[in-house]
Amino acid sequence: MQLKGLLVSLASLPLIKGETVLGVYIFHRHGDRTPKSHPPVSMTALGATQVFDSGNYYRSRYLASNSSTPIFGLSRDIAVTDQMDVTSPVDTVLQNSAQAFLQGLYPPVGSLSEQRLADDYSVEAPLGGYQYIPVNSVSTASSNANSENNEWLQGGSGCGNAIASSNSYFASNEYHEALEDTRSFYSDLLPVINGTFSHEEANFKNAYIIFDLINVATIHNTSIPSSDLLTDDTLRRLQVLANIHQWNLAYNSTDTIRAVAGSVLAAQIVQHLNDTLTGQSATPLGVQFGAYASFMSFFGLAQLQAVSPDFMGIVDYASSMVFELVTNTTASESTYPSPDDVSVRFLFVNGTAGENPLTAYPLFGQSEITLPWATFASEMSKFALGDTAAWCTACGNTTGVCASFAPKSSGGDDTGAASISDKGISTPVAGVIGALVTLMTVLGLQALVYALSGLRLVKKSTLLNANSAASGAGIESKA
Ligand SMILES: *[C@@H]1O[C@H](CO)[C@@H](O)[C@H](O)[C@H]1NC(C)=O
Ligand SMILES: *[C@@H]1O[C@H](CO)[C@@H](O)[C@H](O)[C@H]1NC(C)=O
Ligand SMILES: *[C@@H]1O[C@H](CO)[C@@H](O)[C@H](O)[C@H]1NC(C)=O
Ligand SMILES: *[C@@H]1O[C@H](CO)[C@@H](O)[C@H](O)[C@H]1NC(C)=O
Ligand SMILES: *[C@@H]1O[C@H](CO)[C@@H](O)[C@H](O)[C@H]1NC(C)=O
Ligand SMILES: *[C@@H]1O[C@H](CO)[C@@H](O)[C@H](O)[C@H]1NC(C)=O
Ligand SMILES: *[C@@H]1O[C@H](CO)[C@@H](O)[C@H](O)[C@H]1NC(C)=O
Ligand SMILES: *[C@@H]1O[C@H](CO)[C@@H](O)[C@H](O)[C@H]1NC(C)=O
Repeated sequence: MQLKGLLVSLASLPLIKGETVLGVYIFHRHGDRTPKSHPPVSMTALGATQVFDSGNYYRSRYLASNSSTPIFGLSRDIAVTDQMDVTSPVDTVLQNSAQAFLQGLYPPVGSLSEQRLADDYSVEAPLGGYQYIPVNSVSTASSNANSENNEWLQGGSGCGNAIASSNSYFASNEYHEALEDTRSFYSDLLPVINGTFSHEEANFKNAYIIFDLINVATIHNTSIPSSDLLTDDTLRRLQVLANIHQWNLAYNSTDTIRAVAGSVLAAQIVQHLNDTLTGQSATPLGVQFGAYASFMSFFGLAQLQAVSPDFMGIVDYASSMVFELVTNTTASESTYPSPDDVSVRFLFVNGTAGENPLTAYPLFGQSEITLPWATFASEMSKFALGDTAAWCTACGNTTGVCASFAPKSSGGDDTGAASISDKGISTPVAGVIGALVTLMTVLGLQALVYALSGLRLVKKSTLLNANSAASGAGIESKA
């Protein structure tokens, strides 16, 4: 029966004519949720529906038997977990969103999941052949942090220079002008929000969470106190002010370290797509769930605000951006295109895909929407931060995970172990850490993300062992 499923999947691989999609990377926002100002935040039924529908849209685009742009080599119906890399921070709403998305992408397969046992009985997976696809968690520095909080963008990621850069916005003239210009606007809204915000809190400093509270209420609350104050103009202004506030925290053209979240994402995208190419589409699907602020940081770095000022706005729930690896040369089991024949296309949809159009936009201030792979990779590399050393240097961090990358004081061949030994850790343990650091450098970005989040490794079993060796020796396993 398993074989039957496999045959169905293989049989539905199309004959490839014209343009072929060799792989994709999707970065996705979560669906509708409860307000930030009333923790714990949870996903709503509406939110689950949005991300499920989005997953279903991508299924019809890339997987379904009648798809016009199927992904080369990707199993159609039976999920093959080795073919995909799905990540999400440890955040309830983002994790749940990733699960619901995958339910839409690879729905239950009924009898295709059947397996015959030795005693000749057949067993079908629960829930109509439900498919279990792991979401490898990228944990946040602060445990169970709300990943949409600014802390995840900068504080949680612990990038010193980015935190300082974002904070400098609160000292800028633009900020103080906006704060003064909008005082009466926010205090006039107190009858609507005084159950949550005090008079002192009702101002531009809280532009995002005030917008968020009211936005959630307009979706869910049948009665809102003094709702007559919430005219269309007022609702629009609330959103515009929240957009200005968040954009300025996420990106600054003269101080690009502020957009560190976009820089790390850029490196993850290139690394995944490059792995797809070098592995001849063995892992053609990458999906990551993350915060709207990461979209903003990336948009700024990729100069999308020049395409439309709309890119300076907070993206709607369940928005997604897609990077497609495409080629016009034939790809088959025996011939795989050379990177010179491969291009990248960027697409974005504001809100649930399928309900809203997935549209291609030009990146990096160029006019072409289809960029040669080499051009794409080199443009991304201008702002990507792809390994621990580069991150530490850009962030100005010299302690913790960055200690081994701090400027060397004297010539030693293993500064990592040496500097940790200085803190009184016995030499054998220092050796383990030195090896860990080396391993991280080898594994590059993924390790960087894990390392920053406190060495909580879930994917590579070798690292898991190294990690437990380190924590067994009493080294803090959380940053
Ligand atoms: C593909 O098939 C499904 C159901 O089999 C149908 O709902 C959908 O409209 C079809 N899509 C296209 C693009 O033909
Ligand atoms: C980086 O440095 C900042 C500021 O000194 C600090 O708050 C943060 O925790 C450091 N991050 C890491 C990962 O060590
Ligand atoms: C909020 O404002 C309304 C209208 O001004 C007032 O009736 C209510 O008592 C206030 N609630 C709180 C908690 O201050
Ligand atoms: C919406 O309803 C929730 C739950 O009843 C309440 O806590 C919240 O304050 C309401 N929001 C507004 C803006 O009225
Ligand atoms: C960038 O940041 C600097 C320092 O905070 C500020 O003076 C400048 O106005 C900002 N530029 C933009 C375009 O936001
Ligand atoms: C892609 O991976 C190969 C092999 O690891 C490496 O040599 C190359 O530099 C990478 N290219 C990019 C653009 O990252
Ligand atoms: C997405 O929609 C929101 C309004 O819901 C808007 O503020 C934002 O600018 C839009 N972003 C893009 C890129 O269209
Ligand atoms: C493939 O060819 C078509 C038609 O010439 C062109 O529009 C498209 O951009 C090409 N795609 C790639 C990846 O080169």
